[in-house]
Amino acid sequence: MQIKDLDFEPYLSRATIQQQLAKLAEDINRDYAGKDPIFIAVLNGAFIFMADLARHISIPSEITFVKVKSYEQLQSRGEHREFIGLEVSIQGRHVVVVEDIVDSGNTIQFLLQQLRQQNPESIAIATLLFKPEALKHTLDLNYVGFQIPNDFVVGYGLDYDGFGRNLSDIYKLKSEE
Ligand code: IMP
Ligand code: MG
Repeated sequence: MQIKDLDFEPYLSRATIQQQLAKLAEDINRDYAGKDPIFIAVLNGAFIFMADLARHISIPSEITFVKVKSYEQLQSRGEHREFIGLEVSIQGRHVVVVEDIVDSGNTIQFLLQQLRQQNPESIAIATLLFKPEALKHTLDLNYVGFQIPNDFVVGYGLDYDGFGRNLSDIYKLKSEE
């Protein structure tokens, strides 16, 4: 399967993903019963995961979305991140951050720091995919769909250069032989 200049091969089927979502949701429904959690999904990548997960969540809960903007600063070295879009107060709330993938962990680490400043009662992380080999932080990932090797993947919300988010299955970059 071709996206722009790269060739991808099937990796996780829609059926496999849906099965795993049902399990994650079962755990969340149990762990958050009576806690009225708020799900904070990270755009753009987590939009499909959040939508499908939500349909398995049976407890009273809220869903909202944030975006993490990341850009190189001209003056100082390193990346600058900014997070936008959180319009509800999370003070005293049980928060579940919903991510498409944890790779280096930079994004989620940054988000956790920002969200903690607003004094939620608790924060947990639910991520569809996790690349343990790429992780650069000590993070507690509470709900993980799939641990995957350090391969580049697309589909089910994840993109290559903006494309491929619409695919129902997940594909990985074909290794060159
Ligand atoms: P991290 O900050 O390095 O953990 O990366 C987080 C973000 O990078 C994810 O939310 C994705 O948007 C993107 N990303 C990381 N790995 C992949 C991948 O294999 N395919 C598509 N996007 C990825
Ligand atoms: Mg993302």
